[in-house]
Amino acid sequence: MSVLVTGVAGFIGAEVAGALLARGEAVVGVDNFSDQYDPVLKFARLKPLRETKGFTFLEADVAEREAMLGLAGKHGGLDRIVHLAAQSGVRQSMVDPYIYAQTNVMGHLVLLELARGLKDLKHFVYASASSVYGANRKLPFAVADRVDHPVSLYAATKRADELMTETYSHLYGLKATGLRYFTTYGPWGRPDMSPYIFAKAIHEGRPIELAHLGVLKRDYSYIDDMVAGTLAVLDKPPADAGHRVYNLGAARSEDLVQVIALLEKAFARKAIVELKPGEPGTLPETAADIADTTREFGWTPRVAVEEGIPKFVEWFKAYNRL
Ligand SMILES: NC(=O)c1ccc[n+]([C@@H]2O[C@H](COP(=O)([O-])OP(=O)(O)OC[C@H]3O[C@@H](n4cnc5c(N)ncnc54)[C@H](O)[C@@H]3O)[C@@H](O)[C@H]2O)c1
Repeated sequence: MSVLVTGVAGFIGAEVAGALLARGEAVVGVDNFSDQYDPVLKFARLKPLRETKGFTFLEADVAEREAMLGLAGKHGGLDRIVHLAAQSGVRQSMVDPYIYAQTNVMGHLVLLELARGLKDLKHFVYASASSVYGANRKLPFAVADRVDHPVSLYAATKRADELMTETYSHLYGLKATGLRYFTTYGPWGRPDMSPYIFAKAIHEGRPIELAHLGVLKRDYSYIDDMVAGTLAVLDKPPADAGHRVYNLGAARSEDLVQVIALLEKAFARKAIVELKPGEPGTLPETAADIADTTREFGWTPRVAVEEGIPKFVEWFKAYNRL
């Protein structure tokens, strides 16, 4: 039996697949190398996976019905799915909304259809996002909070995924868990996310633009913790048919100015910061309430930014040959 990991050339997907292979699982990975950011980084993440026994790769679009439904009955059978492929990023969803609906909504539906057709399926785990908390003012964000005011199309597609999964679980007895990932960073991280953008600006001596006049806080979550959390959840499906949602985050809200200070220290170089007004679609603060996740799965994040940011910078320098 194999685990299907979609978005396997992505930041979280590659690490999840690597962790599954490391514990002896067979993994079928799917990715279409979307151009949301430079696919060269995706090829580099995929290389070590392709050299590992037990890994099979399929270049395909998750919204392509034929390719995805065709996975059923192949590769010795799939008994778990970790569906991480998505068009991510808040700002880009205002530039090209159609690709968000196509990948995140249609792609998710295709994965649900695949899942319901798999007779041996034990667990369908998929990525939602902290963005679903949208305009909520109550912090930290808890799963029991209402989430009906998404402030970006990206957030709306992730919420749609949760609702469609709820329906499939109700109709077809699918055992499913949605993970609301909070801002994830670390080695092999995404060039379109703040730690990478800030690091690049500091290195190149260019200004960092901070929205909301710099009054920004993020729950920065280290990649190894998020991978451990994803596997802990995957390994514990709901006892009965059902759909659950959990937060995965560091449960520590970091002031972005502090994160920039850690980056400055790691580069031994001062940042130039330009304060900008609020940006539509972005949340001024995110913080995860992970009490339920810890109680149910015994998972707690271990790596604080003071340790994680220097590790990220070490990788950033090595990867970019600085
Ligand atoms: N990284 C974070 O901070 C964060 C936060 C919240 C939610 N998430 C969610 O977690 C998941 C993984 O995020 P990530 O940071 O690894 O993003 P990522 O962009 O690095 O990885 C996603 C991967 O999916 C692939 N992909 C995109 N469209 C596809 C399609 N139509 N068919 C097949 N593959 C496709 C991309 O090529 C990419 O390799 C996503 O669903 C994302 O929305 C991530």
